[in-house]
Amino acid sequence: MNNKKLAELAIKAKENAYAPYSNFKVGASLVCAGGRIFTGCNVENASYGLTICAEQVAVGKAVSEGCCGFETLVIVSDGEDLCTPCGGCRQFLYEFNPDMLVVSVSSKGEEKSWILKDLLPEAFGLR
Ligand code: THU
Repeated sequence: MNNKKLAELAIKAKENAYAPYSNFKVGASLVCAGGRIFTGCNVENASYGLTICAEQVAVGKAVSEGCCGFETLVIVSDGEDLCTPCGGCRQFLYEFNPDMLVVSVSSKGEEKSWILKDLLPEAFGLR
């Protein structure tokens, strides 16, 4: 599936974001080895620190279905600018594949991509 289609899936997931505090909705789609795709949206909480990011939701859904060989992550947001994964999400994703392709697509259609390990140099890992 191409990045445009993956962005469309992420936009659909973004519509379900629960973001009453920040009003900043984020959507993600995650492609696993073998081709399965999992989407996620951010889920906020009145206890702000309990908020979970769209990427984490997508990873949790995938892992719970037995998929963890992630190849590509596409992230979209409500903002006009490109939204990149937060530091915590970079670490969360790095666990599974430092060579993952991370693609951000803005609401204006601008697209930029990186290899995850370039977004998190000198990353922490135990494996
Ligand atoms: N957010 C994500 O879902 N992913 C990111 O990588 C950056 C931040 C969410 C968390 C919070 O609900 C909102 O965006 C504002 O920070």
